[in-house]
Amino acid sequence: MKDFFAEQPRIPLCFSPTPLHRADRLSDELGIDLWLKRDDLTGPSAFGGNKMRKLEFLLGLAKTQSVEYVFTFGATQSNHAMETAAACRRCGFKPVLYLVAVVEPDKDSLRGNMLLDALFGAEVHVVKMLPGETESEAEARAFEMARKQMHALDAAGHHCMEVPIGGSTYVGAIGFAAGYVELKEQQEAMGLGDFDYIVHSTGSGGTLAGLAAGRALCGGKEEIVAITCSMKDEAYETKVAGLANQALDQLKQSVVRVLPEDLAIDRGYFGAGYEIPSEASTEAMKLLARTEGVVLDPVYTAKAFAGLLDFMKIGRIKQGERVVFWHTGGAASLFAEPAIVGNLSD
Ligand SMILES: Cc1ncc(COP(=O)(O)O)c(C=O)c1O
Repeated sequence: MKDFFAEQPRIPLCFSPTPLHRADRLSDELGIDLWLKRDDLTGPSAFGGNKMRKLEFLLGLAKTQSVEYVFTFGATQSNHAMETAAACRRCGFKPVLYLVAVVEPDKDSLRGNMLLDALFGAEVHVVKMLPGETESEAEARAFEMARKQMHALDAAGHHCMEVPIGGSTYVGAIGFAAGYVELKEQQEAMGLGDFDYIVHSTGSGGTLAGLAAGRALCGGKEEIVAITCSMKDEAYETKVAGLANQALDQLKQSVVRVLPEDLAIDRGYFGAGYEIPSEASTEAMKLLARTEGVVLDPVYTAKAFAGLLDFMKIGRIKQGERVVFWHTGGAASLFAEPAIVGNLSD
């Protein structure tokens, strides 16, 4: 396949291609042909995830700009922030994280991603939610605080790079366009033929934008279903299509386009909200663990997998159809605060 990415600054960070394997027992149980694309295994630590694909290009760009500090954002249990800290350490950048406490962490007993952030030696700023404040208002406050620090560092001669929530810029999305091409190459090498669906969890949209851009590049035909981990407004499709098209422009492939209506975004499965497990997401985690020995995370992949299972029940995915579930990682949040994890032991 043509190398669309050769001209982009890139640092190889992922163990790639990530495995693509069939879920045999669950396929039999559900009556579909179910495959797992294992981006939970991107590395470099045991807690990989989808952000590593984006960071290959984001930090590749940082390297060309003599960056010293990389600032990024998320919730306190953000997988993206943790992966950014790990990737920064591999590349020699200093990670600075501004994290909104959607669920209040216990600073004397750090858990999950926060423990890993500390282990990676990231500079962490926890931004507490103020009474009556929404998550996005707290995020805006976090940006403001970070920008002040970046200005001060810049003024003192240090170069900083700001990576937005989820690494979802068009540069980050290029990482997932490359991920889609990787899947196509694997399908070809393994003689697998076409799939009907790629199902994954969507948050800040960079993964979906990249997959859609990759599908446009390759002329792929499968439906890419993106299941949200929280409420998204009606502008989400337009935002994601915009990112995909900017990525295609950057790759000098402007002849192909992604339209908002090409994106199958399903808002039906995040339950009571971000970082709040639902009965269906908890059941989905147990089912995959107990049939395949594969672990999902409670915040993102469990909700997407719960959606996939429901699609079977309501006939949106039919018997015999061929599905790739793109496992985007998040394992560290299994060891987050109990309110995030839910009850997995029954
Ligand atoms: C495990 C996991 N899955 C899916 C996503 C969503 O990816 P994106 O933000 O690119 O939509 C995230 C984002 O943080 C994640 O951590």
